[in-house]
Amino acid sequence: MKKKNLIIFGTRPEAIKMAPLVKAFKKTDTFDTRVCVTAQHREMLDQVLDFFEITPDYDLDLMKPGQNLYGLTATIITNLQPILEEFQPDFVYVHGDTTTTMSASIAAFYSGAKICHVEAGLRTFNKHSPFPEEINRTVTGHVADYHFAPTQTSFDNLKNEGIKENNISITGNTVIDALLESVPRADLIEDKEVDYLKKELDFSKRIILVTGHRRENHGQGFINICEALKQISISEEDVQIVYPVHLNPKVQKPVYEILGSQENIKLIAPLAYPAFVWLMNKAELVITDSGGVQEEAPSLGKPVLVMRDTTERPEAVEAGTVILVGTDPEKIVHEAIDLLNNSERYKLMSKLHNPYGDGKACERIVTYIENLSK
Ligand code: UD1
Ligand code: UDP
Repeated sequence: MKKKNLIIFGTRPEAIKMAPLVKAFKKTDTFDTRVCVTAQHREMLDQVLDFFEITPDYDLDLMKPGQNLYGLTATIITNLQPILEEFQPDFVYVHGDTTTTMSASIAAFYSGAKICHVEAGLRTFNKHSPFPEEINRTVTGHVADYHFAPTQTSFDNLKNEGIKENNISITGNTVIDALLESVPRADLIEDKEVDYLKKELDFSKRIILVTGHRRENHGQGFINICEALKQISISEEDVQIVYPVHLNPKVQKPVYEILGSQENIKLIAPLAYPAFVWLMNKAELVITDSGGVQEEAPSLGKPVLVMRDTTERPEAVEAGTVILVGTDPEKIVHEAIDLLNNSERYKLMSKLHNPYGDGKACERIVTYIENLSK
């Protein structure tokens, strides 16, 4: 009998990073592989499912506007019970550090399935940053049976926490698998959003691409971020700031209120993955608090200012592509303006780096599980 895989995810970044794994498992006929989405995100998840042509076998459809962590955590666990009991997977795959990840790993543990953690071992060692993701990832790491660490650093973190070396595999990050598949497709496909960007944006100006959504930046952090972007747009007239705004109301409100009518700043809806990758390729500078973007930008040779005080992805900081600027407006403005005007420094920061993988992470994960199943 074929071994049964259940791949569970719920948010945009998990979907992007799990899509190539779904494909890789479906290519083999060794497993019966099914996909379950919690739909912790809805529109932003569906954009990814559409692009990668994934039709989930189970869709819990859980997103509520302005949802909170208590309700979401509880409802994911209870809603997974009937699926786990009916399908009885041998292996459950979770990704990274979201509420879906942690809750699904607990539910899978109750079911008796073996838990496979993709993107395991990243740590800041500060439980409040990123919040609640540092704890989500750590809890998942201690519930999981098999750990797919993207880098040597994440492998070492797990080993130092007492995880058995034999159960950890360094695979690279599946985000690079997704990126390498999407860069050529983004250029080739007739993409409505790419057409829209070509019409709406002023490519005679230098593009700064911005994203932001972290909970620890909600409130004053976002006000600071918006004030910094405003100052950059005023002082650098040959720059256009493009910001696809996350759908979280705690992000939408300050961003549209402070930047909605600012010249040289274009606020747009979240972009589907190929259009976002296309735009990142065209950008001169990326300013973000996103985890995934920190991994993609070095592979595209784009300097990144990260609006966080800590990062669980130190590799690109060490490689010199990423600078942590926190949410201090003066620091953000100073670093952005210096980079835009100091070509030597810009050149140094925009060298291509690939600390996060070679595009073969999913192949390695499939082989690892095949070997276990022999
Ligand atoms: C979640 C993850 C975070 C991840 C981020 C990626 C947790 C605790 N946080 O944060 O780790 O980096 O996703 O984006 O798991 N919303 C929509 N439509 C969507 C998506 C979100 O309307 O497609 C709105 C809803 O009002 C929702 C709110 O955003 O309630 C917050 O979503 P939630 O998943 O709870 O938190 P994120 O901040 O998106
Ligand atoms: N992304 C996207 N459209 C956008 C903004 C980001 O497809 O408008 C992609 C981006 O390329 C990256 C991922 O979404 O792969 C990052 O998601 P997010 O910042 O929401 O979450 P994080 O990575 O911080 O968990």
